[in-house]
Amino acid sequence: MTGRQAVPSRPERREAEEDRWHTIVTAHRHDELSRDRRLAPSYVVPNSWEHARRRLELLEACYDPASFNRASALGVQEGWRCLDAGAGHGSFARWLSAKVGAAGSVVAADLDTRLLAGITEPNIEVHQMDLVSDPLPLGEFDFVHTRLVLTHLPAREQVLKRLCAALRPGGILMIEDLDGFPVLATATGAYRQAWLAFIKALQAAGVDTDWAHDLPLRLHRHGLAGIDAALDVPLFRGGSAHAQFWSLTWQQVRDRVVAVGAPAQVIDQGQADLGDEQRWFRGPAMVIAWGRHPPT
Ligand SMILES: C[S@@+](CC[C@H](N)C(=O)[O-])C[C@H]1O[C@@H](n2cnc3c(N)ncnc32)[C@H](O)[C@@H]1O
Repeated sequence: MTGRQAVPSRPERREAEEDRWHTIVTAHRHDELSRDRRLAPSYVVPNSWEHARRRLELLEACYDPASFNRASALGVQEGWRCLDAGAGHGSFARWLSAKVGAAGSVVAADLDTRLLAGITEPNIEVHQMDLVSDPLPLGEFDFVHTRLVLTHLPAREQVLKRLCAALRPGGILMIEDLDGFPVLATATGAYRQAWLAFIKALQAAGVDTDWAHDLPLRLHRHGLAGIDAALDVPLFRGGSAHAQFWSLTWQQVRDRVVAVGAPAQVIDQGQADLGDEQRWFRGPAMVIAWGRHPPT
């Protein structure tokens, strides 16, 4: 059969463009990841950024309520010695400090402690340290927590092993990290395009964006007992704290997104979507998993 090729309609063109991004993201993960890892430092959203404080305040506003509820349910109590690994702006360390009281103590550890400078609680010790390579005590903590840190670290399994070893017998590890499946399954339009470009930039920097998917299994492999888990999928409005958090996060990685071949407008248009108060969005799921160091 002969004839002119049909011109694709606008929705068809959009779908084709999305498919193209999917293909690029997938191909990139398999073929180009190691090359890009050599080019880029691993932590993509450093605290040295001019808007980092605001970004982490928004992160805390989004995720603290569920983190506090879960840690309370796990029995954090007076007198415990705790570690918050990658403490960021410090809200979780402060919450722990109030829970454990004067008889307990909290180590707030971070590679870059500049946003922990305002901590005055006498039972919090701020430690500037690299979780990958600096010494961590063995068998010391009743409770170890980390949120939105390990997926960023190429040595994440090694760090997880070290965090487990830092627990005293019977101590609890609670770990929280994001899984993008709700976004990939449901997002459309500019919001989707921005996510795909963002994921590609993260993966180029060595972030394993799927790592949290199997978090309970990972705790099992590291020898913890009594493992359980929960999943929170946020549904949020344009302009909300979640929307502002993602918008600011994309802003921080804009250069990386452009460096992996996406047009800068992908971020601009995604941010415009997130500012629209008439729109509702699903965000990535927070996977929360916990387990105990087996008593000896
Ligand atoms: C996304 S922020 C999360 C902060 C905090 N956990 C929260 O949820 O509010 C990640 C934090 O991990 C820290 N971080 C990144 N790589 C690290 C490393 N190798 N060792 C220690 N901290 C690290 C960063 O400096 C940053 O403060």
